[in-house]
Amino acid sequence: SWTPTSFAEESIKELKEKLGDDKVIMGLSGGVDSSVAATLIHHAIGKNLYCIFVDNGLLRKNEFEEVLESYKGLGLNVIGVDAREQFYTALEGLTDPEAKRKAIGKTFIDVFDAESHKVEGAAWLGQGTIYPDVIESVSVKGPSVTIKSHHNVGGLPDFMKLKVVEPLRLLFKDGVREVGKSLNIPDNILGRHPFPGPGLAIRILGDITVDKVKILQEVDAIFINALKDSGLYDKVWQAGAMLLPVQSVGVMGDERTYEKVVALRAVTSVDGMTADWAHLPYEFLADVSNEIINRVKGVNRVVYDISSKPPATIEWE
Ligand code: XMP
Repeated sequence: SWTPTSFAEESIKELKEKLGDDKVIMGLSGGVDSSVAATLIHHAIGKNLYCIFVDNGLLRKNEFEEVLESYKGLGLNVIGVDAREQFYTALEGLTDPEAKRKAIGKTFIDVFDAESHKVEGAAWLGQGTIYPDVIESVSVKGPSVTIKSHHNVGGLPDFMKLKVVEPLRLLFKDGVREVGKSLNIPDNILGRHPFPGPGLAIRILGDITVDKVKILQEVDAIFINALKDSGLYDKVWQAGAMLLPVQSVGVMGDERTYEKVVALRAVTSVDGMTADWAHLPYEFLADVSNEIINRVKGVNRVVYDISSKPPATIEWE
């Protein structure tokens, strides 16, 4: 019968036979799937797995440093690439959501391509594809799919020649988490909410600037930390904040302010295809709102998104 431990053992044995002394390159995202896939491959071939983790400047506050530490803790051979400027330059002036996605996808390919050329003689591309991705890539046609395939690294021009190794191809998300647990991957990786490839760029409505990214990172960190501190993080499927392209009037002392509005979003879901807005306690929302307005300069209003999917999507762009 299937157990996470037997799956892991069997999979490592098969990977050893399949990969031999070959080198494998793999892009990591900080997410559950790529982390578990990389750990399996690492157990099979050790230092012949070269992981690449890119800072696109659109991650959560401190995310790059923290995730890089976790990877090193797992013994992974991981190269962290600071490509923030390259992404900001590519995004300059873009306001259309799909144009932003395309710019990010293309920049990721360029950055990954350049990094992977530094690994001489790589024969394989590792991927964290899971069963629903296999199904989705043949059945779903939508604007985010092209980018998804970019982010799934398989579409990289210079890597078309590489063979693909996908140890999680037959698993669902829960199975991936169980296998990860049996490999002692820490909860801060396994229990992570999903986070979109284009990151905060699709949560900043309109054009992206470094200042806006900083504001949203602060807001998001307050919200996410509060969810964790209140034991609510594991009860919602995904959460985050949107920076809106409107200003609203507020009052501080005897002064009128005219500053930014943020929307908080938290949903319950099974697979992200449908979702309900999370009925977070009013007291919790009140505390988070106060903390944001008191601590984040430039924000004077917080609203909570009470739309479900469909017809609303989880992200605002
Ligand atoms: P929506 O907004 O379509 O989101 O309800 C459903 C799930 O997909 C994530 N998402 C993306 N992930 N690239 C990604 O890798 C994207 O362009 C993208 N757009 C949405 C979203 O965060 C949610 O988990």
